Amino acid sequence: MTVVAAEGVGIEFGGVKAVDDVSFSVRQGEIFAIIGPNGAGKTTLFNLISGLYVPSRGRIFLSGRDVTRLPPQALATCGLSRTFQNLQIFFRMTAAENVMVGRHLHERRNVLAHLCMLPSVIRQNKATRHKAEELLAFVGLLGAADRPAGTLPYGALKRLEIARALATEPRVLLLDEPAAGCNAVETAEVDAVIQKIAAQDITVVLVEHDMRMVMKISSRIHVLDQGRTIAEGTADEVRNNAAVIAAYLGAHGSREAERARR
Ligand SMILES: Nc1ncnc2c1ncn2[C@@H]1O[C@H](COP(=O)(O)OP(=O)(O)OP(=O)(O)O)[C@@H](O)[C@H]1O
Ligand SMILES: [Mg+2]
Repeated sequence: MTVVAAEGVGIEFGGVKAVDDVSFSVRQGEIFAIIGPNGAGKTTLFNLISGLYVPSRGRIFLSGRDVTRLPPQALATCGLSRTFQNLQIFFRMTAAENVMVGRHLHERRNVLAHLCMLPSVIRQNKATRHKAEELLAFVGLLGAADRPAGTLPYGALKRLEIARALATEPRVLLLDEPAAGCNAVETAEVDAVIQKIAAQDITVVLVEHDMRMVMKISSRIHVLDQGRTIAEGTADEVRNNAAVIAAYLGAHGSREAERARR
């Protein structure tokens, strides 16, 4: 079943076509990677899918429903969640509180009931805390629940963001460079978490520069260059594709292309 699809999507900034006529469809439970050199349009595509930007052309579908003009909050209630390329952590809050912030989207809120701390609110707060602990355990951070996020190592913060994104119980999770800046051990931890998410039948759309990780865990890979699709296929198909190799060689030397081949 197709869970997320883009159909001829495009947007420009000034004269620059940041995303130009991009189409793809992602099946349930798949890890679908979107790769490409810096400035290829990957984050912009995520911003279009998650409702931060409205495309100037094309349509976006979630589970078959046209969601092209829906704002981010509406998409969250349709089962879409995401992380951002730059850490969006509240450093003074604890790890558990950071996850609880994500969970609040899922809750029924009645301001008066909250002000009066009615029993129903207390129950809800306990349930939220419990869910946050479950998610922290899922990403391997339960022991850090009550630590201020600012005291956690960088790799832990990347997994904390994933836990928070999962707090809305999404069917689709967009991850924008979840391993960026991580060392090899931290990358392996993120890699394991992503595979656990997909094993729960949550669809993952992954933007990532770590080619070893992308090639290892993605079922299919969609390649962008200067806003346009240049290839789509399995890891083997993409790593041997001449246009892909040329795009990476032209962009920043052979390092990523080489890693993709290994
Ligand atoms: N809000 C914006 N205003 C103007 N230009 C933008 C905006 N967002 C993106 N762009 C431009 O669109 C193009 C695609 O940028 P985008 O951030 O989507 O690339 P990316 O593939 O995510 O790159 P990276 O790998 O470096 O994160 C770039 O030329 C960028 O400068
Ligand atoms: Mg980006």
